[in-house]
Amino acid sequence: MIPEAVLNQIQERTDIVELISGYLPLRKAGRSFKAPCPFHPEKTPSFFVNPDKQIFHCFGCGAGGNVFSFVMKQEKKDFLEAVEMLAERAGVEIPAWRASNPAADERAALLMKAAERAADFFHRQLTESTEASKAREYFKKRGIAGTTAARFKLGYAPDSWDALYRGLKADFSESVLERSGLVISKKEGGFYDRFRNRVIFPILDIKGSCLAFGGRVLDDSLPKYLNSPETELYSKGRHLYGFFQAKTSVREQDAVVVVEGYMDLITCHQAGVENVVASLGTALTPDQVRLIKRHTKNVIILYDSDTAGEMATLRGLELFLEEGLEVKIVRLLKGHDPDSFLKAFGAGRLKEELKNAQTLFEYKLGILKARWDARTLEGKVKIANEMVGLFAKVQNEILRAAWTQALSEELGLSEEALLAEIRRSDAKPQSAARPAENAPKTELPAAEKLLLGLMLEEDFFLEKARLSLVADDFQHVKLREIARRILENEGGFVSAAQFINVFSEDAEAARVISMACAEIAAAVDKPKTFDDCLRWVKRSQSAREREGLQVQILAAQQAGDKNRISRLLYDLHQLNKGMKEIYEKEKK
Ligand code: UTP
Ligand code: MN
Repeated sequence: MIPEAVLNQIQERTDIVELISGYLPLRKAGRSFKAPCPFHPEKTPSFFVNPDKQIFHCFGCGAGGNVFSFVMKQEKKDFLEAVEMLAERAGVEIPAWRASNPAADERAALLMKAAERAADFFHRQLTESTEASKAREYFKKRGIAGTTAARFKLGYAPDSWDALYRGLKADFSESVLERSGLVISKKEGGFYDRFRNRVIFPILDIKGSCLAFGGRVLDDSLPKYLNSPETELYSKGRHLYGFFQAKTSVREQDAVVVVEGYMDLITCHQAGVENVVASLGTALTPDQVRLIKRHTKNVIILYDSDTAGEMATLRGLELFLEEGLEVKIVRLLKGHDPDSFLKAFGAGRLKEELKNAQTLFEYKLGILKARWDARTLEGKVKIANEMVGLFAKVQNEILRAAWTQALSEELGLSEEALLAEIRRSDAKPQSAARPAENAPKTELPAAEKLLLGLMLEEDFFLEKARLSLVADDFQHVKLREIARRILENEGGFVSAAQFINVFSEDAEAARVISMACAEIAAAVDKPKTFDDCLRWVKRSQSAREREGLQVQILAAQQAGDKNRISRLLYDLHQLNKGMKEIYEKEKK
């Protein structure tokens, strides 16, 4: 990874107006500059460059970002290539390994070499040393065959403070070993091994080079797993364990199975299910989703039964939906993970489970039905509201129609009522800040988008947002992800142009951020916009509840159930009363 300070330095020395005018005939328009957009055909310019914020945004096609995003899009480069190009232009030296800087390349190659040597060392310990008999015993107990251990180059880190360090120090500098994460420096000088008395799982990149390690204890002590830290080679959220070994099978099956753990992955492979990768116990990142997307569009999630039962898991899965991937979920028998399931029921049953995986629709409905009673009105309202939120993320109209029909049958509500609900959930509040004419086609809720723009506009608004908002107040997944990163950022205020770098390859995030900023630039009264939007976001929760009630009333009217109608009307009345009180408090 390229250090933030270096990215900032490149940006300080690269003026976006000067950069883009090398490609386009920019003309002054107020504080900004404009030109016909290079990314979509148009006659009237709607492509704007903002010199104060150092971002660009097209109100026509929605393209946008900072200087790096522009080069990526214009020159069809990836993030690092764009950084390299602008670094050279600005005369900034990049200390990272990916730079086209021979010294840095060499350092990266050294880290990789050190990791390879460590993998060899650990593997040899496992297969040859007498001391490792307990590790061999451990793998045997867990049913791992020798051929499997060889295929995944499993290893053992001896119960010693410096066995690996002593093994490698003749061939690698202290600095390389420390930066590789394999050894840790002692306060009083010298180094000790990070991995001690653990079985070792080398983490390879998709080409099979070793980048990092995970190590498991042989008993029940804690922490169960220890992993390499983030290094110049390895960033947890950008890789998936086992992809190198799974690659061929993923291509053959045109599908990938995602499990959580090292052992889940290895036992699946050993049982003949080879198109498996592991997320290593954390929520999937957009980078990982895109890594998968390059190889297949079909994803099956095979998590531990308790993880799969969680609502929070859904959030990660919606990422797939937004990227246009097909995602299905297996819900294993309670208490099982793939490893234990295989041991208990065998590969045949697991393959069957994979074949019968639930769609995201069925999965979410299942979770909701376990949470709320679908036979009661209240339950139906809750379920319908939550489900409709998922529908909004489906790119495919046909799929959306099919889901609407299925939900209508499931809950005994008319499709019209549900469609009305979907339309309402898509509805956006009116915003004074949006330029009316050439407004971009966007599915983003305006209030959430403008709040985001304000959080990146001034320290003042960021502080205000930190006091009054949490990321989960944002309904839109992408906006929520971005808001979470802003709100959770420990440091102070970060400008939009810098913040975009956090998302490096994620052009969608760059687009959304610059769109929000460009629209905020047009706002006349920013404090008022902030208050209005905040109120809207806070209120939309109760509005969704109310709309759900209205759906129920429609359904009850269809069914001619007078009792139910009057009860629902009463609930609606109560809710309206509550909302009115909020309005009135606000006025004072
Ligand atoms: P699990 O706790 O489900 O472990 O964590 P597991 O994979 O089933 O391992 P076994 O079967 O008990 O040996 C799932 C994954 O989360 C990460 C690891 O990648 C693990 O495989 N994890 C878990 C950690 O990084 N650290 C931990 O302390 C625990
Ligand atoms: Mn597990």
